[in-house]
Amino acid sequence: MQNIKAYVEQNKQRFLDELFELLRFQSVSADPAYKPEVLKTAAYVAQKLRDAGADKVEVCETAGNPIVYGEKIIDPAKPTVLVYGHYDVQPPDPLELWKTPPFEPTIRDGKIYARGACDDKGQFYMHVKAFELMMQNGGLPCNIKFMIEGEEEVGSNNLGIFVKANKERLKADVVLISDTSMLSMENPSLETGLRGLSYMEVEVTGPNRDLHSGVYGGAVANPATILAKMIASMHDENNHITIPGFYDDVIDLTDDERKALNSAPYNEEEYKKDLDVAELWGEKGYSTLERTGTRPTLEVNGIWGGYTGEGAKTVLPSKAYAKISMRLVPNQGWVKISEIFTKHIEKIAPASVKVKVTTHHGGEPVVTPTDSVAYRAAQKAVAESFGKQPIPTRGGGSIPIVALFEAELGIKTVLMGFGLDSDALHSPNEKYDIYNYYKGIETIPLFHKYFAELSQKS
Ligand code: BES
Ligand code: MN
Ligand code: MN
Repeated sequence: MQNIKAYVEQNKQRFLDELFELLRFQSVSADPAYKPEVLKTAAYVAQKLRDAGADKVEVCETAGNPIVYGEKIIDPAKPTVLVYGHYDVQPPDPLELWKTPPFEPTIRDGKIYARGACDDKGQFYMHVKAFELMMQNGGLPCNIKFMIEGEEEVGSNNLGIFVKANKERLKADVVLISDTSMLSMENPSLETGLRGLSYMEVEVTGPNRDLHSGVYGGAVANPATILAKMIASMHDENNHITIPGFYDDVIDLTDDERKALNSAPYNEEEYKKDLDVAELWGEKGYSTLERTGTRPTLEVNGIWGGYTGEGAKTVLPSKAYAKISMRLVPNQGWVKISEIFTKHIEKIAPASVKVKVTTHHGGEPVVTPTDSVAYRAAQKAVAESFGKQPIPTRGGGSIPIVALFEAELGIKTVLMGFGLDSDALHSPNEKYDIYNYYKGIETIPLFHKYFAELSQKS
């Protein structure tokens, strides 16, 4: 595999064209209206795996969106890498904030703007192209399996079922995922942990119908006000979460771990400037890197009720709603947290309203090992391709299925992401740098090479 760079150089335009084609599919998993597009995307991914040389490629039906599977076994005695990614994307809303349409990929300033450009189409497709490169350019150093799903952005429930039912087929020595961020291209890094998630919805009901806010206002509890109060009460003056028992299972980091984490390059002024905020906010006693990487949080993702249309309508709404998620850290369990959240809301709700709490989905937090052959292979690959040792970091995001791979298949994961936090994942104008795309395609074959080499020695 001497000619990695040359192969990428020769096929640059095609690699980009194919990614653009993939980005044009509107594979939004949150809204069933996009189902036909989701199915087309899965078929496209399957075809591209076949074209690249994969065997046993299959679009596996589930109760939800299909999972694309493919593999190339060169020698059962050699180690096997299971590549996981997701072809589904977040809804593109709010549409009016996109400079160019979300499903018409556009290049500006060396960056590809499109929904899914970074999360995760741009990133998983690097693996498909790296696989093609290895097949065309000296062969695979180890076995490879692909599992690209279509429901990551909605909790991967059907993938969980698929994994449990396909343990033999998914047997591998490591799971390799590119769906996380690096600190920057100058400071390459590898995430070594992901937060868990518990996603809840709260419905508050006041009177049995919307009321005239003048005729009844002042005499009947307004569910929107009550909901806002309940939400506000869940953080104290130190921005600590007030739900009883919330922190019970959290394992605090040692001083050494905190020190290591805080030694990563981080510029608070740039961080604030990028987001256009005058001040940061968070749990007292922790740095920004600790707050996002190692501490549990509670966020309101959406809140609504009453009249939100054009102009003004005087109304005391019958109902108000909020979608609330909690990010979890090692040793917290998402089912338990969902239960104590529900109990807490039921307890603090005044008698003037009724509350209904439902659980959407969840996933457990994970810490990935840094003393494994696979992690060392990723370190070597990144170091060689970026000319700098990668810094281990803790990511704030969640990929719920990672904990399940470990629990069900007994396989640990390496998170070798090439995105940036500033790539606007889930936001309008999501982007991915073309440079990162090619850099990823060059780095991945090195991972396979070193993983095969180091596995043999160990
Ligand atoms: N790729 C992200 C997770 C991520 C992003 C991890 C950046 C680390 C750095 C993934 O697609 C995602 O958005 N996951 C969801 C969870 C899911 C259950 C909706 C998340 O983190 O909100
Ligand atoms: Mn993702
Ligand atoms: Mn995402």
